[in-house]
Amino acid sequence: MKPVKIVGLGKYLPPKKLTNSDLEKMVDTSDEWITTRTGIKERRIAEDMPSSELAYRASQQALKNAGLGADDLDLIIVASITPDNFFPSTACRLQSLLKARKAAAFDISAACSGFVYGLTCAWQMIGAGLYKNVLVVGSEVLSSVTDWQDRSTCVLFGDGAGAAVLTEATKKSFLSSHLGADGSRAALLNIPAGGSRMPASQQTVDDKLHCIKMKGNELFRVAVRVMVDAAKISLSKAGLKPEDLDMLVPHQANKRIIDAVVKSLKIKDKVYFNLSRYGNMSSASCAVALCEAYQESKIKKGDIVVLDTFGGGLVWGSCVIKWAL
Ligand code: ACO
Repeated sequence: MKPVKIVGLGKYLPPKKLTNSDLEKMVDTSDEWITTRTGIKERRIAEDMPSSELAYRASQQALKNAGLGADDLDLIIVASITPDNFFPSTACRLQSLLKARKAAAFDISAACSGFVYGLTCAWQMIGAGLYKNVLVVGSEVLSSVTDWQDRSTCVLFGDGAGAAVLTEATKKSFLSSHLGADGSRAALLNIPAGGSRMPASQQTVDDKLHCIKMKGNELFRVAVRVMVDAAKISLSKAGLKPEDLDMLVPHQANKRIIDAVVKSLKIKDKVYFNLSRYGNMSSASCAVALCEAYQESKIKKGDIVVLDTFGGGLVWGSCVIKWAL
């Protein structure tokens, strides 16, 4: 395997903010409930922008930071549960926006773990010698699949995109990855209608079955255990222990979930949070968190960085990176 590293990161957060006090005017909720139960204070709303447009802006920044042009890309992977369309893929739309003429393109559907699934694919494809430069993006417009009258979900989600450019390296930077799934628990978090299982009809629209449905309480209990296990397994695959970690960059679903993971791994303060500003952006959460942790100098060259994600599917994914930027 050839060594692989991240050479550029980017993000895009649409400017429109939706605060907890805005939500107080929309549903029966309070800033106090949302803050204590989730840690979220505000989230961004893309309004009329599709996921590919958010992905485009994040990707331009990542390419610029990598010192590469779109023509240098061999492959584009977009992770999203809110793609522009069923097909063409959002990755194809992004390829067109970027004018990345030489790049192949495909989407990944792995909910909040999509970015880690995408990084793992890119790492392996570059490592095997198939491609040299790969762009991985997590991009979501969750506001388009949110039921704005359901207080149990509408306070949680936000829109955004994060991107990473990976390339061949001389020293090992990606050390390990652990991906997992449990499809038997799909009903805990899903969008019931719109696919071949339940095609769109007047009834599905009336019943709001094109929006996110979540059994938050049951999911909460699974999330902590699965994220702890995933981080431990990816670290052990890299020959490391939780105490060797310098920074955990987790999926940003709920501060209480992350606090419980941090406590179980005994890694106090070695964790990055930004969910108070953005809420849960599914595949974009970990991508944006990694970008901001680096921009804020919370991650330095040589650090052991662990990405740790969990989401609808169920799917989970963790990877260990010896930071090389
Ligand atoms: N404002 C006020 N009250 C509310 C709200 C709200 N926005 N939402 C729910 N409540 C009420 C409920 O109706 C309930 O009232 P009751 O006791 O009278 O019945 C009470 O608050 C408690 O509700 P719970 O659902 O038990 O609240 P909980 O403490 O579990 O918090 C939450 C809910 C925040 C959703 C939490 O369960 C959670 O974070 N779950 C995990 C989410 C997650 O990990 N998602 C994974 C990834 S997302 C992806 O893949 C796209």
